[in-house]
Amino acid sequence: MKPIPYGKQNITEEDILAVIESLKSDYLTQGPKIKEFEEAFASYVGSKFAVAVANGTAALHLNALVLGVKPGNKVITTPITFAASANCVRYCGGEVVFADIDPETYLLDINSVKKLLEASPRGTYQGIIPVDFAGRAVDLEAFRKLADEFGLWIIQDSCHSPGGYFIDSKGQKQHCGNGNFADLSIFSFHPVKHIACGEGGMITTNDEVLYKRLLTLRTHGIVKDENLFTNSIQFAGGVESYPSWYMEMQELGFNYRLTDFQAALGLSQLKRAEESIQKRIEIAQKYYESFRDLTFIKGQSGVVEGHAYHLYIIEVENRLELYDNLRKKNIFSQIHYIPTHLMPYYRQYGWKIGDLPFAEAYYESCISLPMYPTLTEMEQDFVINKIKEFYNG
Ligand SMILES: Cc1ncc(COP(=O)(O)O)c(C=O)c1O
Repeated sequence: MKPIPYGKQNITEEDILAVIESLKSDYLTQGPKIKEFEEAFASYVGSKFAVAVANGTAALHLNALVLGVKPGNKVITTPITFAASANCVRYCGGEVVFADIDPETYLLDINSVKKLLEASPRGTYQGIIPVDFAGRAVDLEAFRKLADEFGLWIIQDSCHSPGGYFIDSKGQKQHCGNGNFADLSIFSFHPVKHIACGEGGMITTNDEVLYKRLLTLRTHGIVKDENLFTNSIQFAGGVESYPSWYMEMQELGFNYRLTDFQAALGLSQLKRAEESIQKRIEIAQKYYESFRDLTFIKGQSGVVEGHAYHLYIIEVENRLELYDNLRKKNIFSQIHYIPTHLMPYYRQYGWKIGDLPFAEAYYESCISLPMYPTLTEMEQDFVINKIKEFYNG
């Protein structure tokens, strides 16, 4: 059996042709494919606006900037996520406050967040960053209600969940990143994600003011709209109007652009997004059915509606032995995640073992099994059998 990773991109001939076509065009960076990708992605998730950026981390950084995170500002997030969800607050000098997870869903526990908010004077916290961890959509309707009560913004980290949704109190599907509840949502197009661009990211929002600022900050804080210029026409070198070369850098931005050929790849991948999720759901269903009667496997909630299944996670005893045993058989499972609050970087701010018991207990037993649309039936059977063999001897 050839190596079976926990996640893998799926690049088709059609994707390759789309990239070649883009490479043969006049644009390498910021050409027409960017706008096309942004519009198609916004329409896929149901938001008004989308801004393509270099990667998910850049998306998070820009979000923290436009929402005004400043030194000393406190922001709440989950410890069971990739570190970037928290790091964006630190990039702006803010303070990350981790709240525990719900042991059933592994998502940021709204009651833990509420307790933190109620225990401090109003204004202590600026925002919340819930994460659709593993592809399971956070109930953002509930978080929005809480955030409004305390005057907070929400950044939804949807890196794991394009195409995912939760069902709101009216029975409606609310797709991750649709902008109905979060101020801003972000996605990543890293190879193991649903849509792969090599590197890449997207921000979605329904807020036009934030959208416009994001566009500027993505490209060095440069403004090209003459209605917004603050220097005089004479200074710019014109007589009655601004010369066409003229532009202004009005705030400190970055080069967080995606390239046109990456956007072409993303667009091509986006066409298969729904098909890929269906495949992921089938894989999840099979794992669930294969393991549901086995007492040594926990953490299986059945196939959850709206789950985008970026990861399929189980909780087991003897996790290290299982992990090593699978590796010897060419099955490369993974652990998501080492709790961020216990990373040495965050320990320096006082975080320690025992602070977030559910997240820490989860970390002791979690393991992510191979999950990607091109995982074959034979490969999945092999994984399932090797796990059963390990426990049953
Ligand atoms: C939950 C989460 N947030 C943020 C990121 C950062 O995305 P990127 O790797 O595109 O910078 C990732 C990527 O692994 C992620 O899984």
